[in-house]
Amino acid sequence: MRIIILGDIVGTPGRQAVTQAIPVLREQYTPDLIIANAENASNGTGLTPDHYKKLSNAGVDAFTLGDHVYKKNHIVGVLQNQPNIIRPANISDKAIGPRYMKLTHGPEDQKLSANIYVFTVLGRLFMGMPSSDPFVCCDELIQDIKRHDPGAIIITEVHAEATSEKVALGWYLNQRVACVFGTHTHIPTADARILPPTLSDGSIADQPSPRGTAYITDLGMCGPTGSVLGRRVDRVLSHMTTQMPAPFDVAAVSPVTAGIILDIDPSTQLATSIQRLDLPADTTKPPFTAS
Ligand SMILES: [Fe+2]
Ligand SMILES: [Fe+2]
Repeated sequence: MRIIILGDIVGTPGRQAVTQAIPVLREQYTPDLIIANAENASNGTGLTPDHYKKLSNAGVDAFTLGDHVYKKNHIVGVLQNQPNIIRPANISDKAIGPRYMKLTHGPEDQKLSANIYVFTVLGRLFMGMPSSDPFVCCDELIQDIKRHDPGAIIITEVHAEATSEKVALGWYLNQRVACVFGTHTHIPTADARILPPTLSDGSIADQPSPRGTAYITDLGMCGPTGSVLGRRVDRVLSHMTTQMPAPFDVAAVSPVTAGIILDIDPSTQLATSIQRLDLPADTTKPPFTAS
């Protein structure tokens, strides 16, 4: 089973890059599912119901969010009614939206050969949004999912600022989930790999493993790379060099689609391969050129 996961979609250029990339990715890699983090899809913060619909029509099969989950507050209706979008799991129990999603069908309603479960935890280091212990939250959700579905394939997103916290959660979940991937920092990291096994004494095997938990610290963003994390360079530099406020508008230069291609063996519920994906958009072609 093959799954493509795309990093934070940032603003109009991010949505356009993804819309252009998906037909190419579908043809080249024939994924069973495409999942994307859309926390920055609408003007850089949050996701509107309209953009949820447009990205769905473009071929995103399922959506995750992050600390910007409720910035466009009409998303609450989508979180209540649609089965393919989740909020971060470790915020208030009273926050609207599911803590995890169960994905059973791919594009054109084709049944998947195994059920995929996805949840997002927020990190606690250097994050503005308060959240509860992500380690405990992962334990609870994995136990809950496996109790209902012992053959579940689980994918965990760590939406966090600190690389240490993301790496630590990767090892914590080693061999318990198919994939741990990071988002939020918008900068791709070069550490995609199948984690070697954790041995019974807690040490790490000093050899690669053909299957296990696929891990990457950050997918990078789907958005303009001629920017500071998706925002206009001039505005961010003006703020940083003067300490005066400046509107952090979304940039437009050099959009890319970034993410991973993940292969999973349903019989073991573990990954067999993880590859980074970094696809520059062609801004001379639709949808960039559409009026
Ligand atoms: Fe983000
Ligand atoms: Fe974020």
